[in-house]
Amino acid sequence: MKKTTLFAALAGCAVIGGLGFIGLAEYGQHKSFTAIDAKAVTGAADQITRGQYVAAMGDCAACHSVPGAQPYAGGYALQTPFGVIKSSNITQDVETGIGDWNLAQFDKAVRHGIGSHGYLYPAMPYTAYSKMTHQDMADLWAYIKTLPAVRQKVVENELPFPYNQRLLLAGWNLLFFKDQVFTPIPGVTAAINRGDYLVNGPGHCAACHTAKNALGGDVAAAFAGGTLQGWHAPDLTPNPHTGLGKWSNEDVVSYLKTGTSRQAVAAGPMMEAVENSTQYLTDDDLHSITAYLQQLPASQATPTVAIGANDAQMVQGKLVYESQCEACHTASGDGVRRMIPQQSGNAQVNAADASSLINVVLKGADAPLTAGNPTGAGMPGFDWKLADEDVAAVQTYIRNSWGNSAGKVTAQQVAAARKQLDAQPWAGH
Ligand code: HEC
Ligand code: HEC
Ligand code: HEC
Repeated sequence: MKKTTLFAALAGCAVIGGLGFIGLAEYGQHKSFTAIDAKAVTGAADQITRGQYVAAMGDCAACHSVPGAQPYAGGYALQTPFGVIKSSNITQDVETGIGDWNLAQFDKAVRHGIGSHGYLYPAMPYTAYSKMTHQDMADLWAYIKTLPAVRQKVVENELPFPYNQRLLLAGWNLLFFKDQVFTPIPGVTAAINRGDYLVNGPGHCAACHTAKNALGGDVAAAFAGGTLQGWHAPDLTPNPHTGLGKWSNEDVVSYLKTGTSRQAVAAGPMMEAVENSTQYLTDDDLHSITAYLQQLPASQATPTVAIGANDAQMVQGKLVYESQCEACHTASGDGVRRMIPQQSGNAQVNAADASSLINVVLKGADAPLTAGNPTGAGMPGFDWKLADEDVAAVQTYIRNSWGNSAGKVTAQQVAAARKQLDAQPWAGH
């Protein structure tokens, strides 16, 4: 996007933000959501257990904990197109956490996007959490109240002007935030409705799997794939080429439970989601998520024409593949079940956006460590070994062999990915 367009968009947002703020203050829109009953939190042991499960569904730990540090003490840096936003300390420390909050304040932050410094940035997925039920919120709060206090001050907002103006978010909310509770789809199975709730509510899958517009709002093509922090989160619709069309229900359940399936092994941000969230969900809930995803309308993506085997980049890529990759990934591209992902018919490999593939080949990846797959296989990194041209060529080769078809990967894309990976903490290990 050109600078002038961006400026115009921002100016527009500022005006809408101003109006939005006045509107909200005048008409009290934010006061109109149904109040949550403080008595709903009893703190009984079974409620705390349920709340811990809700925290897993919402993946709160992944963003609110820095790996290796105290859980929920915040400070995890989220890279957004607008700059770095740090997550808050949500432990019970009174001064630096949320120890003096009550259920209503917690609800206002988590479901309605208003925290201790005013409007929250949508990097905190309140846009999805707004769909959560009163009961789940009350259970979650009962659990959060049991977290030991950790004293750690987080400077949450380090964004450059004008993005550091929280008031702008009033406008953003008017444009992109529907503060609505979950409404079941009539006439579908209970499993699909439960899946809808999990995916669009606590699971906030669209935060990564739906593409964003220039202002960070969801585009209309829901779940057709999105890009975040230099990773591509693939199409989750039943599209047979780029989505889950060739995955059986068991494949999806196995991937969410263990991080591996016939087709793929979770790396990067999805590895974190599996480790902190989906591996803890019951089989019933994982089947419900799958049932919901499989009934979505297939995305519009259509296969490109495969690049021919005698194309110069394909010839070079084949040589790299045979010498560096084939021993593990096999000559037929079929991989090894539950260990080495299949390249043929792999939705991620066929996606228009190759960024996740480039990251994995440069830095390598360990499969998530889960109870269901305690000894995940590793993929070595090739950044020290292969030139940009070789990495690009081998990607183009796997993306256009064994029935796959997708655009060429260029050496420039690989060079840019190297830069980005060096600049940010690596999520793969
Ligand atoms: C994708 C990352 C992400 C996830 C997942 C996430 N959060 Fe957050 N959260 C953030 C960020 C970033 C902020 C700070 C936003 C800001 O400064 O505007 C935040 C802020 C908050 C705040 C406001 C604290 C304050 O002092 O204002 C609360 C409360 C909170 N989160 C609770 C939760 C709970 C509970 C969950 C799970 C249901 C959760 N978060 C999941 C990223 C996340
Ligand atoms: C923080 C961002 C993020 C969130 C939240 C997230 N995903 Fe993902 N997901 C990704 C990324 C990135 C990949 C690609 C990982 C890779 O290439 O190994 C992925 C991959 C997947 C895949 C494998 C697809 C394929 O073709 O390889 C499935 C299935 C999936 N996610 C389902 C879900 C579901 C269901 C949810 C919500 C419960 C969810 N994801 C939430 C980022 C995310
Ligand atoms: C020592 C065995 C080994 C070698 C050699 C190897 N890989 Fe892998 N590869 C793996 C494993 C294991 C995974 C799954 C790891 C993960 O994603 O966490 C993987 C994952 C991948 C993925 C991600 C697929 C997906 O759906 O997420 C791509 C792309 C890939 N490898 C390409 C290559 C290329 C290209 C080469 C050669 C330059 C190569 N690999 C060499 C073992 C290997």
